[in-house]
Amino acid sequence: MNKKLYFGTNLKMYKTISDTLDYLSKLANLTKDISRDSLELFVIPSYTSLVKASEIVDQNLIKLGAQNMNWEDQGQFTGEISPIMLKELNLDLVMIGHSERRHVFRESDIEENKKVLAALSHGFTVLLCIGETLEEKKFGVSEEVLRRQLKIGLHDIPVARFHQLWIAYEPVWAIGVNGIPATSEYAESMHRLIKECLSELFGEEAKQIPVLYGGSVNPENAEDLIVQPSIDGLFTGRSAWQAEDFNLLIRGSLLAYQNRISKADACK
Ligand code: PGA
Repeated sequence: MNKKLYFGTNLKMYKTISDTLDYLSKLANLTKDISRDSLELFVIPSYTSLVKASEIVDQNLIKLGAQNMNWEDQGQFTGEISPIMLKELNLDLVMIGHSERRHVFRESDIEENKKVLAALSHGFTVLLCIGETLEEKKFGVSEEVLRRQLKIGLHDIPVARFHQLWIAYEPVWAIGVNGIPATSEYAESMHRLIKECLSELFGEEAKQIPVLYGGSVNPENAEDLIVQPSIDGLFTGRSAWQAEDFNLLIRGSLLAYQNRISKADACK
């Protein structure tokens, strides 16, 4: 079955406003001929870039998202950004629980849950990031960790809201300059587990919640990853930060996926 594939990048704390605008206009231009029926493309820039980015980007082509959000509408939370402030920017995507938020800034599953609930109630699509650390993997508790992050992170979410959820599976040991990418077999098995857990929480239909793989995605492994049946997209960091490279990675992956579908149809 043909499905829509998700490709996105988190620009972390890397690009200035002018770098971001330049990147976004190049990416929009390079990818504008790709049908958005088969592609959901999104970029998550810094807060400071979001204001101008939301003015220049056609979000039918590239959806913009925020890297984090507080759960309160307003209050004594110096340095934080509220859902209302993000709404003003005409955004409808917010990322919650990126591994750097969890591990550098010590955010807990309970905090992620408060953010997810607030974001959903404000009508955002939530990209919830989950993933086990190397230590947890070594102790053999990766599956328990993913289940815990999903069950607490998505606690109390009304079933009717599951359409507003996207999940990114990003093993912590695979992310960033020292990361070792997961093999496509390992990623597929974890994605299967995530989809199982989502359907326990929200019913069989929740298997449609897109689950993206992230963590050292690169031009060498992207095609193997995207053809896995339970992988619905790629959440890419470093390999996506040049618009030309990201465009090639997206096109290569879409083609690999189409070839797999055509082969499977031919065997029927
Ligand atoms: P990476 O980053 O692709 O550079 O490993 C992934 C991420 O942090 O989302």
